[in-house]
Amino acid sequence: MVNTLDKTFLEKSSWKPDLFKGKVGFVTGGAGTICRVQVEALVLLGCKVAIIGRDHEKTERVAKEISSLVDNPDAVLPISKVDVREVKQLESAVKRTVDRYGRIDYVIAGAAGNFICDFNHLSANAFKSVVSIDLLGSFNTAKATMPELIKSRGSILFVSATFHYYGVPFQSHVGAAKAGIDALSNALAVEMGPFGVRSNCIAPGAIQGTEGFDRLIGDASKKKTTSKIPLQRLGTTEDIAQATVYLFSPAASYVSGTIQIVDGAMWHIGTHFAHELYPDLLFKDPKAKL
Ligand SMILES: NC(=O)c1ccc[n+]([C@@H]2O[C@H](COP(=O)([O-])OP(=O)(O)OC[C@H]3O[C@@H](n4cnc5c(N)ncnc54)[C@H](OP(=O)(O)O)[C@@H]3O)[C@@H](O)[C@H]2O)c1
Repeated sequence: MVNTLDKTFLEKSSWKPDLFKGKVGFVTGGAGTICRVQVEALVLLGCKVAIIGRDHEKTERVAKEISSLVDNPDAVLPISKVDVREVKQLESAVKRTVDRYGRIDYVIAGAAGNFICDFNHLSANAFKSVVSIDLLGSFNTAKATMPELIKSRGSILFVSATFHYYGVPFQSHVGAAKAGIDALSNALAVEMGPFGVRSNCIAPGAIQGTEGFDRLIGDASKKKTTSKIPLQRLGTTEDIAQATVYLFSPAASYVSGTIQIVDGAMWHIGTHFAHELYPDLLFKDPKAKL
């Protein structure tokens, strides 16, 4: 995958160039589909960013690609072989970031896993795995970075979802994890506010071109789903990047403890990717477990 944004972002977006000059970001899942475009926007606006993931080749390649946007090989620091389920690995990643860039101002807890599965086919291990990456991984990311955020009076953004706003089928594991993330963010907004740290969530709706969404929805249901979204289009990774820039910018300096939904008002009318699969998927071989 190549970069989604380019230098025209500086001309056509609402943000002034160098908005984040001198600032440093730390992004788990930063080589993934949505979070890499968040990183692209931050970097184009002058931020230096460490991207954290497990896959060495992917993390190194994406760091080079994003750095090329600003012709500065020092703009993105790839830190691979880090599993967000292990807080010690994240602490080492924080140390490497501070050794290289001197500080951390903005954290995005974006690493996550997802798959479609109904409750009857979902094993305890599969549930534990998603909760460990999404919820425990978000806690670990906050825990490892908070001392730096307190020093910089920075801001943390958790990447949530809308799967827990009502009973979305086949997503009990992700819904449970994301509900926990929202609760964690709200509590951090209250407990860390006195230290000058802001905490918010961003909840993407159906974002086209993402591996997660493509896995969850086929081409046939894409058209139907789109027509049921009030704004009549799927979301883009740039939509999420724009909202991210806002939440880290001084324009949001009094915004903390919120969940910024970026979904074209989709969840309000109960649209979800699983309409086409419900309820038939529930009755497939009940012995097969994930
Ligand atoms: N796609 C959507 O439409 C949608 C909708 C709502 C919410 N979201 C949320 O948006 C975020 C990004 O989604 P996406 O679709 O862009 O996902 P993605 O492309 O699959 O990227 C996820 C990233 O997370 C990293 N990751 C996964 N498990 C990890 C672990 N244990 N330790 C460290 N890194 C790990 C992966 O890196 P490695 O391969 O290097 O491990 C990968 O780069 C997620 O939080 C997701 O829940 C997405």
